[in-house]
Amino acid sequence: MDDTIKLSVINMTKLYGNGDGVKNVDLDVHTGELVTLLGPSGCGKTTILRTIGGFIDLTDGDITIDGKSIITLPPEKRPTSMVFQSYNLWPHMTVHDNLEFGLKLRKIPKETREQKIAEGLRLVKMSGFEKKYPGQMSGGQQQRIAIARSLILEPEVLLLDEPFSALDAKIRMEMREELRKIQTDLNITVIFVTHDQEEAMMLSDRIVVMSKGHIEQQGTPRQIYDNPVSRFVAGFIGEMNFLDDGDGKQIAVRPEHIAVTKGTGGILDGTVRTVMMLGHYLEMTLDTEKGLVKVYITSDQANQFEKGDHVTLNFDHTYSYNKE
Ligand SMILES: Nc1ncnc2c1ncn2[C@@H]1O[C@H](COP(=O)(O)OP(=O)(O)OP(=O)(O)O)[C@@H](O)[C@H]1O
Ligand SMILES: [Mg+2]
Repeated sequence: MDDTIKLSVINMTKLYGNGDGVKNVDLDVHTGELVTLLGPSGCGKTTILRTIGGFIDLTDGDITIDGKSIITLPPEKRPTSMVFQSYNLWPHMTVHDNLEFGLKLRKIPKETREQKIAEGLRLVKMSGFEKKYPGQMSGGQQQRIAIARSLILEPEVLLLDEPFSALDAKIRMEMREELRKIQTDLNITVIFVTHDQEEAMMLSDRIVVMSKGHIEQQGTPRQIYDNPVSRFVAGFIGEMNFLDDGDGKQIAVRPEHIAVTKGTGGILDGTVRTVMMLGHYLEMTLDTEKGLVKVYITSDQANQFEKGDHVTLNFDHTYSYNKE
């Protein structure tokens, strides 16, 4: 990643006929950066990606790559390549022909095409699958081919719309690691869409959190985790307890920022409801006068507590938000 700006979305608005869409989106992506658009279903992630790729026209604003506006160019003339959310490979074509198609469109000579196809398959560890049809491969294999197909076009910006959402947890994890490796090795600029906050935290140089057609917050995973700017972001990223504070305010506290001891005298008293093993730490839920509170404890602490124990809580770090 370096300091040059590869892509800028400038005060961009895209409204569909019914008034849905995204409004006043401002976003800069640096060369070699992986930026994630993160937010719940319907918040406008795909809409932004499609306006960048040129599959839908924008209502207002501009999009530039290397400082030049791209909004009048059709998708195949843009220096972008997109892996779509749902359909991906052409089912009636072999893997080889799926990969070759875009290269042919760009008038790449046959010999170079074959080199690029071989290289693309090697990158995603799918060499030897040239003659297979999409229907003869697993979901994860098809997604890898779809990513290879985009990569070999050597786009200035690679657009990935929830490429791993249909895969099971283990393969999804492997694919994330592979993608991140290829992306950093080749210094590719990527915009990655997901509604999975864990995926966003793992993969991203920077996360753009969206809600209802606008950007709520942009920052590194650490910045967003440590300083969520709104009640929405606080609730969407990581685990958070919200406690009513009267006056329409809520105190928010992360489970790892709560210290639990037996007895009374802390900020808030409670009773242990559940203790659940989660690997090297445990999650404990407590009934309090401000509702159910979740805390994390180490396995060393675990044998001190059992269901029904009266405990008291102290908070290391809290946030305060207006109630939504
Ligand atoms: N072709 C369309 N015509 C009209 N409205 C649309 C169209 N496509 C999307 N929308 C609306 O625009 C908003 C944003 O949709 P978009 O597909 O960008 O969301 P998303 O964040 O990608 O959601 P998901 O996580 O479900 O894929 C939604 O309210 C959606 O209903
Ligand atoms: Mg979408």
